Amino acid sequence: MSRTGLFDSHAHINDEAFDTDRDELVTQLGLEIDGFIDLGCDAVSSAAAVALAEKYPFVYAGVGWHPENLKGIPGDYLDQLAQWAVHPKVVAIGEIGLDYYWEENEPKEIQKKIFLEQIDLAKQFDLPIIIHDRDAHGDMLELFQKEVKGVQAVFHCYAGSVEMAKELVKRGYYFGFGGTSTYKNANKVREVMKYIPKELMLFETDCPYLSPVPMRGKRNNPGYVEYTARNAAEVLGVEFEELAAQTTANCKRLFKKIR
Ligand code: NI
Repeated sequence: MSRTGLFDSHAHINDEAFDTDRDELVTQLGLEIDGFIDLGCDAVSSAAAVALAEKYPFVYAGVGWHPENLKGIPGDYLDQLAQWAVHPKVVAIGEIGLDYYWEENEPKEIQKKIFLEQIDLAKQFDLPIIIHDRDAHGDMLELFQKEVKGVQAVFHCYAGSVEMAKELVKRGYYFGFGGTSTYKNANKVREVMKYIPKELMLFETDCPYLSPVPMRGKRNNPGYVEYTARNAAEVLGVEFEELAAQTTANCKRLFKKIR
């Protein structure tokens, strides 16, 4: 086990923010945390995530098309994802979802269509999905109440209400908590954290973005998942070690290919 026993369920070490020190950082991370999942957002970053996972035993990959990256998506993108899906280190389809925040993103109907196609592919390969939901809570919940069945999922950087969380808990979905849960104004996120069963809780960084307090504003990295986890242990009134063990066990249950 690593120093913290934590697992970062959502990282983007393939991002150019790590071009200058990627290998040095990842080598160090092998001592600090049990592992992390590197996530792709298009063809190039998904390929980079798979390559990183091949290089380091404690690194795993997620592959998929992020809702911000759908312009010019190739017609055969599902064939490419299918080739990666059988790779022993590819543990999830993600990051995928809906993003209604950026006006330049593709229209809602196109986003939904591609999201659902990727969910079908995940089901076909018995992989869980890692969901991005920004300003799309209503449509997201409706999809999971009416259309989407038979897939395991984590709602990454969960920012919805307790009411929505109740609906998701009923269906056994997981919740990812990252740096935003440490921010002063994030009472809503902490309420959700207290509400959901600990068996459905994952920690994450979404690095290089969203560094937790006290590193807010700096480049995030998977090692900073410790700040988020220590803050959560305090919020929940539990021991850090217990929460680390629980959330890492949750990761291994959800992402079945993690060893
Ligand atoms: Ni992300």
